[in-house]
Amino acid sequence: MCGIVGATAERRVAEILLEGLRRLEYRGYDSAGIAVLNDQGLQELRRVGKVQALAAAQEETGINGHVGIAHTRWATHGKVTKENAHPHVSSDTVAVVHNGIIENHEALRVRLQGLGYSFQSETDTEVICHLVHHELEKGHSLLDAVKATVKQLEGAYGTVIMDQREPGHLVIARSGSPLVIGLGIGENFVASDQLALLPVTREFMYLEEGDVASVTRTQIKVFDSNDKMVERQVHTSDLQYDAGGKGEYRHFMLKEIHEQPIAMRNTLEGRIDGDRIAIDAFGPQAEDIFKNIKHVQIIACGTSYHAGMVARYWLEQYAGVSCNVEIASEFRYRSSYVFPNSLFVTISQSGETADTLAALRLAKTLGYHASLTVCNVASSSMVRESDLAFLTKAGAEIGVASTKAFTTQLAGLLMLVAALGRANGVDASIEARISHALASLPNKLEEALNITAEIEALAEEFADKENSLFLGRGDQYPIAMEGALKLKEVSYIHAEAYAAGELKHGPLALIDAQMPVIVVAPNNELLEKLKSNVEEVRARGGIMYVFADKKAQFKSDDTMRVINLVHVDEIIAPILYTLPLQLLSYYVAIIKGTDVDQPRNLAKSVTVE
Ligand code: M6R
Repeated sequence: MCGIVGATAERRVAEILLEGLRRLEYRGYDSAGIAVLNDQGLQELRRVGKVQALAAAQEETGINGHVGIAHTRWATHGKVTKENAHPHVSSDTVAVVHNGIIENHEALRVRLQGLGYSFQSETDTEVICHLVHHELEKGHSLLDAVKATVKQLEGAYGTVIMDQREPGHLVIARSGSPLVIGLGIGENFVASDQLALLPVTREFMYLEEGDVASVTRTQIKVFDSNDKMVERQVHTSDLQYDAGGKGEYRHFMLKEIHEQPIAMRNTLEGRIDGDRIAIDAFGPQAEDIFKNIKHVQIIACGTSYHAGMVARYWLEQYAGVSCNVEIASEFRYRSSYVFPNSLFVTISQSGETADTLAALRLAKTLGYHASLTVCNVASSSMVRESDLAFLTKAGAEIGVASTKAFTTQLAGLLMLVAALGRANGVDASIEARISHALASLPNKLEEALNITAEIEALAEEFADKENSLFLGRGDQYPIAMEGALKLKEVSYIHAEAYAAGELKHGPLALIDAQMPVIVVAPNNELLEKLKSNVEEVRARGGIMYVFADKKAQFKSDDTMRVINLVHVDEIIAPILYTLPLQLLSYYVAIIKGTDVDQPRNLAKSVTVE
């Protein structure tokens, strides 16, 4: 979603702020802005478009200072305009950046207008700076003014505020939107994600829900939701990837697709020992908790939801536990039944997705036996708030389209299947099979990437297409769904996925020569059924692209292009078959000329409802 950076230092901070924004740009990117305090008071710059436009304006104007805040915006309230970009300013003295949504902004706006404040933007955020200004006018310090302000806010916020009367001072507050303080020597920083601050520090302090903090060059004071001064632990970041760079690749998405073998190696390292998986990869209490589990409830959004759908097939087939999977935004607003001895599992790359996090918080009130998150960010809210956590070690994922996070989630979920199977007395041969299949994965993924050139050529055939259909059966059905999501998200071609057996119940009417049909073929007892579905499409003049194991014996002809994939144990086939679909989406997007890493209207981490 939107990105926040702030800095207070002896040196001038504009370049630190701009570099931080560049690193956060993948989260929200319709406009950007910066505000600094210097001898001339408060100066701000805002631009519609990429951070580069803002950087050029900063260079031109030379605006700089020893304290400042900056923001990349992904519009929620109000159009994409310079006026709606952050920072917002009240009375030329108070500047605010904000992530999240202030739900009672309309009532506050009316009240503030009554007090004589005039609004320059359509945003919900602008109420924050006027409220803080109003509190300052009562004689409060900046810290107390912010504390008084947040008491009046309903909704979600991660916000950073500065005031001309207290130069060198940033006050920050968190409720529902993450904020981290980066500790320097004689200088301190704040951001919505540690990635923004990696060029200046490796030492981080994460704010908890309800915290308000005062940050100067030399001092940090944190107050919890009861206004009690508290110590928050300092963590040293071990981020291994140069998250800021694309290396030899043209886009982050391509880099991240190609990082999958190493991401998988890192995720599995030390977690498989011969025929067994290491249950403590889920946390020290995992073994005891898993013994009691008879049902799994999985909650996630988007790509992570697709990982959950694959896990359902696996859990019921191999672990002997029942499983339900639901989209977080649906789950959180309905009354659901809690099965006895249920494990509540969230899956999330970021660990901050608002709907999934809200579902986790709700689940804690509903009587689940325990909660587990499968997550890529160790410091995230979901990891901190769950009883158990499996950390995927995919490294920072910058491209909006989730790639390596998905395949490593699947590996973690397959380990969960083995762990729950063992706890449930399932034959040890299943765990051994899973362990060996997983151990083979990094090399198999490397081999699978060898078809990159073939897929690049294939992508040409999609250049003039407006619609597409993805088909799969069994645990490859969610992979078809993921392929469709990836294609629509980065190439803007309309894509739908169906369980192949469902074709005759409606979607068959869509088939003609203009509708490419992408088929993900399983190599199991469902293969023959799928072949019949393929014939149904062929008989209606459809053009098919079939991703299949050589042994499946599909043959290319006028109506069908077959792309053979390396042979693997069918248990890990959903992971492997994801790669060609990611590559296809990427290369189609390149032909279409879209903004691959930052597709229109999307944001990386969806921290608002
Ligand atoms: O961070 P999360 O995994 O919780 O994010 C969930 C979705 O927003 C995310 O997977 C989204 O669907 C992907 N960007 C799609 O590629």
